[in-house]
Amino acid sequence: MTVAMQPRERSAPGSAHGTAPAGSGRAAAPRAPAVPDVRMPRHLLSAADLDRPTAEHVLSTAQRIEQAMAGREVRKLPTLRGRTVVNLFFEDSTRTRISFEVAAKRLSADVINFSAKGSSVSKGESLKDTAWTLQAMGADAVVCRHSSSGAPQQLSAWVDGHVINAGDGTHEHPTQALLDAYTLRRHLGSLDGRRIVVVGDVLHSRVARSNVLLLSTLGAEVTLVAPPTLLPVGVTSWPAAVSYDLDSALVGADAVMMLRVQRERMSGAFFPTEREYSRSYGLDSRRRELIAEHGIVLHPGPMNRGMEITPQVADGAGSVIVEQVANGVTVRMAVLYLLLSGETDSAAGAAADSVADAAGGLA
Ligand code: CP
Repeated sequence: MTVAMQPRERSAPGSAHGTAPAGSGRAAAPRAPAVPDVRMPRHLLSAADLDRPTAEHVLSTAQRIEQAMAGREVRKLPTLRGRTVVNLFFEDSTRTRISFEVAAKRLSADVINFSAKGSSVSKGESLKDTAWTLQAMGADAVVCRHSSSGAPQQLSAWVDGHVINAGDGTHEHPTQALLDAYTLRRHLGSLDGRRIVVVGDVLHSRVARSNVLLLSTLGAEVTLVAPPTLLPVGVTSWPAAVSYDLDSALVGADAVMMLRVQRERMSGAFFPTEREYSRSYGLDSRRRELIAEHGIVLHPGPMNRGMEITPQVADGAGSVIVEQVANGVTVRMAVLYLLLSGETDSAAGAAADSVADAAGGLA
């Protein structure tokens, strides 16, 4: 099921939404007419679920939320009061789990954190029985991370709530791609024609796959750089160029995104030594100088410092790695807001008004 959203007017600089401050006596700005091109999916399982108007709508919603939250003493909006978000994590996570929790709480949702460790999964309970338990508890949204590719999609067949893929095996991590796109747009503006180089363990990277899909949807030119052993079969059919030569790919690039070498998913020798990998595919200060002067450095984390990226580059000028984490909260607020408020047009309008009202109090 797809639901047409009702985006609000663009904000004027310096104001949250162009709406009147709460209690100012001024009427709220009229809602912008519906944009029929925006189609928010029922579940967010893949970056391919988002066409360009919808992806841009998610990113502009995140921008409005960031503006609404800026300078607030109490960083909370009432939008999802009474709704329940379950964080269902079968695989370790720091950034994604915490940022979904913070995002849901900032929208006033009730949050249940479930991790496989310490749950009845360790007694052999299946994903289906876990799903039915969540269903019985009235989960409005389930944020799922799983080591098996396709698990969130399977889950979406068993629960009534919205399912968000928080990283499944080596398949996809769509909200990571959204926060990366949001970060890139903050620094580069429109991504049309921007050259973005994605480097490293593409074979095991759900981040790479989701980024290639989303960044190409947004008009960027993506180049994947990796040793041949760390490229998946069929990569030539992806909407990206492929290179084995990092130095030449970096020259003049607008951004470079380093990928973590996922040693825990490797069962064989994919490169001779870590030192050799770093020499050919690591980002050090010399290589950092090859990208454009305005160019930025991204990494989804967690990082293997000294392997795919040196500490000097990770912590140096043009690195936006910490900003990516902060942007993750904002973007995930936008995703939760759009999925959970988009069930009906009236619910969408009411939710949009509650964000606008909260933002109005800041103006
Ligand atoms: N980028 C990312 O998914 O990090 P976590 O594994 O810490 O969630």
